[in-house]
Formats: sequence, C-alpha cells, structure tokens
Amino acid sequence: MINHLFSLARQPALWQRSVEPFWNDGHISKQMLEAHLNPDWEAASRRHSDIDCSVKWLSRLIPPGSRILDLGCGPGLYTKRLSEQGYNVTGLDFSRRSIAYAQEHDTRSRYIYQNYLELNYTEAFDSITLIYCDYGALTLSERKTLLSKVYRALKPGGLFIFDVFTQKTNWSKQDSTSWRVYPDGGFWNAEPHVCLEASYFFEGHTVEARQTVILTDHELHQYLIWNTVFTQETLADEVLLWGFQLDSVYNDSCGSPYTGGADTLCFVLRKAQLA
Ligand SMILES: C[S@@+](CC[C@H](N)C(=O)[O-])C[C@H]1O[C@@H](n2cnc3c(N)ncnc32)[C@H](O)[C@@H]1O
Repeated sequence: MINHLFSLARQPALWQRSVEPFWNDGHISKQMLEAHLNPDWEAASRRHSDIDCSVKWLSRLIPPGSRILDLGCGPGLYTKRLSEQGYNVTGLDFSRRSIAYAQEHDTRSRYIYQNYLELNYTEAFDSITLIYCDYGALTLSERKTLLSKVYRALKPGGLFIFDVFTQKTNWSKQDSTSWRVYPDGGFWNAEPHVCLEASYFFEGHTVEARQTVILTDHELHQYLIWNTVFTQETLADEVLLWGFQLDSVYNDSCGSPYTGGADTLCFVLRKAQLA
C-alpha cells in the first residue's frame, strides 16, 4: 500500500495523465453535474448570470440561423440558450451523465457523447465554441489535434471561439501540498476519505498540475488536472499555425474589450474563406 501511495503522490512528469479518467465516475460525475447546475457556484461551469452574458454576446457575434457546435457542452447550459435564440445547435461532451441531462432538458439541440479529440466532421459548422478554459487543460499535442479537427469541421469563413486563463488568474506559481479529511465523504469519493492535494508548476510557471490523491479505507485513487496559462502572444503563436486568422481578442467570453489585464483571454479565430 505505501509503495502504491508513494507512486501516486510523487510529483508527476510533465503532461502525465490521470491513472483514472474521472468524467464518467459514478460519484464524481454526479457531484460535477450538481456543480454545473448550481447557478451561483463558479466551479464546473461559470455562474449562470455570466453564461447569460456570454450567450448574449455570442448571439451578436454569430449570424442568425448558423450551425453551432459546442465542444465540452456539459449539461447544455450554453447550447440550450443558443437553441432558444434560433441557432441550429449541437453539443458534444464525453460525460455520459451531462449528455443525458442535456438531452432530457433540451429537445431542440442535438447532443453527442464523444471525445472531442476524435471529432470527425468536414466543413459542417459555421461556428465552434469551447468555453470555460478547457483548451488549456489539454496537452500541447492534444491542442494540436483539436485545432486541426476544429479547422476541418468549420465551413470556410467559420469561427472558432474559445477562452483560456492568463497568469492573472489565481496562479500561485509555487508548488504546494495540503491535505483534508472527509469523514462523511465529499466531492471525490462517497466514502470517508483523506484527500492529499498538490500543485506543481512547469514550463516557466505556465503549466500547472493539480494532483489529488484519495485514500479510503481500502482504496487509493489519483486524479491529475492540467492547466496552461497564455498571453495573447503565446496563444496566437500556437493557434495561427493552423491556417486560422485572428478575427478578434476579448478579455472574456462575454466579449469585454481586451485590456491585457484580465484573468482570462477569449480568441475568435476565423477559417479562411475560399479564394
Ligand atoms: C469545465 S467543464 C465546462 C462545461 C461547459 N463548457 C460549461 O462551461 O458549462 C468541461 C467539460 O468538458 C468535457 N470534456 C473534457 N474533455 C473532453 C473531451 N476530450 N471530449 C469531450 N468532452 C470533454 C467535460 O466532460 C466537461 O463537461
């Protein structure tokens, strides 16, 4: 047991993936859905008032009647609102619980259970969104895969709208460890458990690994969540290689004007029109 614990609790290698994928874990996905649906809890989704604000902005940016694909749509908080605005909307997510909830509560949009890294469309959508900074949770090679698939899935002239965190976010830059006890269970596990948490920084403090190790009476679990922060320049260097043009940059996914001082950054990329 102790050797297993050592192996799970040691500093991970850069981009090491979780031993266990957690989006479809029965307990964790239930906690996650609760977090998405709490209108005032900025955790799995933004506050619902911010989501309203984003959808208002998106409906000014995206021409009426467009076909929109929302990647990592969760339980459909954006997709449902966009469908109500008259768009032809598809939501895609690899949490079965979130997709089931979305299908039950929004019959106008189409929902697909799929890993967006396996997206396989050609010139099918006018706009593709990826909201709440999920881009930065992907490894560099996953980001390359995603960008190439999004580029292919967009119609010429189509938009890819996504946000990322900047270093202005709550970014301590210092490796840290802490632990807590949950005698009645908690977010990560329904059983009584101890939770060992650590943050490690890499690549000049632009990449963070959040490591969570859960010890129950008879089990050990490890979850790793990665996050990369960007500046306008580092994001542009990475995404413009794919043939996209930078249409516009904002402070957030509500379309607030870009100042360079916000904790997020939102890019609107355009796929080139046919000559
Ligand atoms: C932080 S949540 C944001 C959900 C939604 N965009 C929102 O803001 O309400 C991230 C979502 O992306 C989904 N997700 C993460 N990686 C994914 C992948 N590779 N393919 C499909 N969905 C993914 C998760 O299941 C989760 O619902």
